[in-house]
Amino acid sequence: MQKLIIQGGQRLEGEIIIQGAKNSALPILAAALLCDGESILENCPELSDVYAACRILTSAGCQCQMKQHVVRVNAESLTNSEIPEQLMQEMRSSIIFLGAMLGKTGVCTLGYPGGCELGPRPIDLHLQALEKMGVRIREENGILHCSAPKGLHGTKIHLQFPSVGATENILLAAVLAEGETIIVNAAREPEITDLIHYLISCGAKITGIGCSTIRIQGVKKLYGCTYRIMPDRIVTATWLAAAAMTGGTLRLLHTDAGSLEGILDVLEQMHCSYYCDDTSIFISARSPVHAVRSLKTMPYPGFPTDAQAIFMAALCRAEGTSVFEETIFENRYRHVDALIRMGADIQIAGRAAVVHGVKQLHGAPVSATDLRGGAALLVAALGAQGETVLTEISHIDRGYDNPEKVLSAVGADIRRVSS
Ligand code: UD1
Repeated sequence: MQKLIIQGGQRLEGEIIIQGAKNSALPILAAALLCDGESILENCPELSDVYAACRILTSAGCQCQMKQHVVRVNAESLTNSEIPEQLMQEMRSSIIFLGAMLGKTGVCTLGYPGGCELGPRPIDLHLQALEKMGVRIREENGILHCSAPKGLHGTKIHLQFPSVGATENILLAAVLAEGETIIVNAAREPEITDLIHYLISCGAKITGIGCSTIRIQGVKKLYGCTYRIMPDRIVTATWLAAAAMTGGTLRLLHTDAGSLEGILDVLEQMHCSYYCDDTSIFISARSPVHAVRSLKTMPYPGFPTDAQAIFMAALCRAEGTSVFEETIFENRYRHVDALIRMGADIQIAGRAAVVHGVKQLHGAPVSATDLRGGAALLVAALGAQGETVLTEISHIDRGYDNPEKVLSAVGADIRRVSS
C-alpha cells in the first residue's frame, strides 16, 4: 500500500505541463476497437484506468501497447467480445466498451461496471438506447448478454438526462450502424467533442459537434489514425485550486482555457487573478481567497461535478461562507469528513454543503474515498499547517499522472512512500 506524505504551507510557484484527459482517453481507446488498421493515440496519461482500458483491449484479442504516453491499438486481431468481470469492476468507464464492441461485432457479454463510490450509477439510459438500435439484452446472474441479431440500426434517441457515458456509448454503437442515429439532449462535455473528432478522423460521419443534438450517419468502415488526446480540464482545475489554496503563482501549459469556463468564473469570484492564452493559463492567487456565494454543479458548460470536491477544499480557508449544491451525483460529499478532520467547518444538508471559511487547516491522517475526493484532500493538505498522511491513494492514481512529481517541481513538500 502506498501513501502520500505532505508538509503543508508551501506556496506553489512555477510551471506545470497538463496531462492528457483521462475521460477522453478512455472512450477513444474503446473507439479504436471499431477501426481497421492501427490507431496511434498521443498524450495518453499514464494512469491505472488507462492501463485497465488497455487490458480490456488485449483481453479482446487486440494489440495494444503503451510507451511514453503513446498508445498503439490494432483491433484487427479482435477475437473475444466478452469483457472480463474483474476489469468491469475495476472502472466504471469499462461500460463504454459495450457500444464499441456491439458496433464492431454485434455481440458483447459483460457484467455491471464497478466504481460506484458516488452513489447509485445506473446504466439504464445506455441500455435503453442500445435496445432502440436493435440490441437484445438478456441478464443472467448479473451478467448482460447483448446481441444485435439483425445488426445495429440508426434511430432517434432522446436522452432524459445528458449522460456523458450514454452519449459516448450511443456514438460508438452508431458510427458503424445502418442509417442515421440522432441523439437529442446529448451531453456536450469537451471529452465528447474530442471523441467525435477522433471518430471523424477515422472516417465517421457526425454533425452537431458540441451541440445537444448530434447526428451520426453510419459508415461501412473506420480506419485507425494518429490522434492527440485533449488536455485534462479537471487536472487543470485541480492545480488551479492548489494555487488558490496556497496563495501560489502557477503557469499551466498545454491546456485549454476554452473548456474551463465554469471553473474560471469561480476563480474570479474567489478574487484570483488569471490570464489565459490559446494553450496556457497563468494564475496568481492571494491567500486567503474570497468565498463563493453559490456554486452549483451542472452538465457542461456549467461547473463540473468533478471539480466540486477540489474547489470545496480550496474554499475551506476562504474569507466568508461558500454554498455548494451537487446536482449530478447523490453521494459526492464523502470527502467532507476528512476535511472536517483537518479543521474545516462544513455542514451538509441534503444536496447542499455550507462551507464557513476557517483561518487555518491542520495536517491529519486522512484517506481518499474516491478519485476527486482524494484530489480534494491533496489540495487541502498543500494549504494546511503541518503533516498530512494521505492513504488509499490508488483512487488518486486513477486520474493523476505522478501527482507527487508534478507538485514537488512547483515547490510542494510531498513524497510517496510504500508501507
Ligand atoms: C462521466 C465522467 C465523470 C463525471 C460524469 C459527469 C468519465 C469516464 N466519467 O461519468 O468523471 O463525473 O461524467 O460529468 O467520463 N445516469 C442515469 N442513468 C444512466 C446514466 C447516468 O441515471 O444510464 C445518471 C447518473 O447516475 C448520474 C448522472 O446521470 O447521476 C450523470 O452520469 P453520467 O453523465 O452518465 O456520468 P458518467 O458517464 O458515469
